Amino acid sequence: MTNAPAQSRLFEPARLGPLDLPNRLVMAPMTRNRATADGVPLPMMVTHYAQRASAGLIIAEAATPSPVGQTYPNITAIHSPAQVAGWRRVTEAVHAAGGRMFLQLQHGGRVGHPDTSGLTPVAPSPIPLPETIVTPSGHQEAVVPNELTVEEIASTVADFAAAARNAVDAGFAGVEVHAANGHLLHQFLAQGTNHRTDAYGGPVTHRIRFVVEVVRAVAAAIGPERVGVRISPGVTVNGIEDGDTDRIYPALVAALAALGPAYLHYVFADPEQPLFRQIRALWATTLVANPVLGWGGPLPADGGKLKGEQLLAAGADLIALGRAFLANPDLVERLRTGAPLNPVRDHGLMYVGGEAGYNDYPTLAGTPVPAVLTSR
Ligand SMILES: Cc1cc2nc3c(=O)[nH]c(=O)nc-3n(C[C@H](O)[C@H](O)[C@H](O)COP(=O)(O)O)c2cc1C
Repeated sequence: MTNAPAQSRLFEPARLGPLDLPNRLVMAPMTRNRATADGVPLPMMVTHYAQRASAGLIIAEAATPSPVGQTYPNITAIHSPAQVAGWRRVTEAVHAAGGRMFLQLQHGGRVGHPDTSGLTPVAPSPIPLPETIVTPSGHQEAVVPNELTVEEIASTVADFAAAARNAVDAGFAGVEVHAANGHLLHQFLAQGTNHRTDAYGGPVTHRIRFVVEVVRAVAAAIGPERVGVRISPGVTVNGIEDGDTDRIYPALVAALAALGPAYLHYVFADPEQPLFRQIRALWATTLVANPVLGWGGPLPADGGKLKGEQLLAAGADLIALGRAFLANPDLVERLRTGAPLNPVRDHGLMYVGGEAGYNDYPTLAGTPVPAVLTSR
């Protein structure tokens, strides 16, 4: 007889599409605004992601599939050869350090500004973001977006497919289609932002159409086993109002499941929520759950470990953590050994800045310098 605690399921291996994951901890996508003005990843991003290669999977931050989809200054993109080359340096370093990576594809829709992208943002309907937005000259009022025509919807779908091919070319194992957090795809789903009366607006079957078309096109471009989709049922960030969360998400998830993507990524998943259980039952492949840890306040001391284990017990397959990975390059090892976690040090450096607050979070052994970088 031994009294040793049972090994946490977080550290069990898992299969995801083409990948064997050594553990079930996923680094959630986090935009850190450390690319060039043209969306090319800077060398400090190579270091940042290589430091976190022990994650079961890294989902790299939002990358824009087309110029008009840009949200904020200095976010990354994946529609030009220079951007692909910049991302390739990141994936090569992560692979050399033993890691695995998907890239999130994000079109901001109405979350964008002409002073940032040089273009008027686009959206399902001409309804502006009901809050100010960061631009190169600071916060400004949002502008009224142009309503996408049916032809422009088709070309946006094609942009996602091209961006997915670029991501694979850059060395990513796959892409995560961002249909969460109030960006373009979510704007089509939500009643508050979609007032269209054509085949893309109105009833649930119409409002899910654009997301389904994007995922189908991306899956056709790179294979469904290389595609994930992120959703955030009921989340109100970026002024989004679903209107009928409990009706539209089951319909969306059933339609997406028929396309066979590798995973569904559920933001702020709560194992007690009936919708979470309903979606688990509808989804045949991997379910990645990002637990509710309290947004706007400090993280729990365990970074989300306990909530992650509860979600695994409720049927999730992988657990995505954001801020705990941001502040702990060796998060997997710390959680495995029960070592204390670094807290997020400076919230002002989350979305802007250089190496400080980005690459200087220490590992248990001291500040990390990946061997791959020192050997160059
Ligand atoms: C600095 C920062 C940037 C983020 N950027 C993105 C992003 O690019 N795409 C996205 O889907 N979510 C983004 N998120 C949300 C995270 O993926 C995650 O859902 C959120 O941090 C909650 O997880 P946590 O409580 O473990 O931090 C971001 C969060 C933070 C803190």
